[in-house]
Amino acid sequence: MKNPYFPLFIVMLFMATGCFSEPEKATLIPDREIKYCSLQAGITLKDQPAADSLPHAMERTDTRWQYTHPGSWTSGFWPGILWYLYEATGDPDWETHAWYSSETLLPVTCKKARSHDIGFITMCSLGNGYRLTGDTIYREALLRAAHSLTALYNPVVGTILSWPGMVAAEGWPHNTIIDNMMNLELLLWASKNGGGEELYQIAVSHADCTMENGFRDDLTSYHVAVYDTITGDFIRGVTHQGLYDHSMWARGQAWGIYGYTFMYRETGEERYLDFASRITDTYLSELPQDLVPYWDFMAVSVPDKAFRDASAAAITASALLELSTYIKDQERSSSYRKSAEQMLASLSSEAYQARSEKSAFLLHSVGHMPKEREVDGSIIYADYYYLEALIRLKRLQEGKPVI
Ligand code: GLY
Repeated sequence: MKNPYFPLFIVMLFMATGCFSEPEKATLIPDREIKYCSLQAGITLKDQPAADSLPHAMERTDTRWQYTHPGSWTSGFWPGILWYLYEATGDPDWETHAWYSSETLLPVTCKKARSHDIGFITMCSLGNGYRLTGDTIYREALLRAAHSLTALYNPVVGTILSWPGMVAAEGWPHNTIIDNMMNLELLLWASKNGGGEELYQIAVSHADCTMENGFRDDLTSYHVAVYDTITGDFIRGVTHQGLYDHSMWARGQAWGIYGYTFMYRETGEERYLDFASRITDTYLSELPQDLVPYWDFMAVSVPDKAFRDASAAAITASALLELSTYIKDQERSSSYRKSAEQMLASLSSEAYQARSEKSAFLLHSVGHMPKEREVDGSIIYADYYYLEALIRLKRLQEGKPVI
């Protein structure tokens, strides 16, 4: 008689011998990738010399993190990663580590803001800490940070001065970089949390003025918009980290997409939604097949500089997941979500994950090509936005609001 269990036996045999294993990471499962991130972060934690040595970057050949100090522009991302791991896993150990790490940044909020970066530094760390714990220490610190950022606002121009240090060094009297869009989130948060209406108005003015002057006619962003301090006139758009003044620096465009998306979330103004969508389409129209951009869209044709930038892909994936939830047109909304998922699937593949090579989550980012820093390396903010995007995707898959 035929054994009825024979087919099952064959299946088990195949499974045991690995014959049924999928080609690697064919399906993106956020929980699996979040688990990967937590294992990598655990290695970094063991290696970290002190809570105030904050993982910053690894050059291509480095196997360990280079650390930075509280107050440097990337110092908020590691505490932010720890908060996200706490949020994703509920493990109180991550909360403890996140708290110690965030604590090192509190003194930064008692000083004058040295640049627009105070938003990156505090929102990723203390902002997430406040969101998850409601601890008033974080709230007070964020309010201080927001007020210190307003000191860089020039009402004649209508934007925040991003880099005071570049005024004399580069001859850029009032400079506003596209990255600065990200730091408006601190102002909007603070305005909603007792900081006053003026903070909201500054964020709106900055976003409007950047929409007007910070982008070329083809909707690619300048890295730096230079303005006349006295008349407020836009003088010119130039680059600092891109390839050419006229090319699209990938991370800059990504900061813009992310920034205008939350401007819509926080203000409800349709012009921001429309703009976020249009600059997204510009970015999506020229991507390589795996949807991870060259660090500058023109770098593809420069042989010794044709590197990808995983950080731009991670930032964009996270922003697109949020943007997809605001777009009313169903087809467009699902196409944004699908693109974001494809970006995350690429980043989660063997080609981009660092795995046993180093404890960063991702390889292949470009920090500052003109200064030859972090070229094809690992950078902490790539990891931060990658994890954020995975958490956002998981929430969407579970039918929860994206944030
Ligand atoms: N905000 C600096 C950078 O994106 O490199």
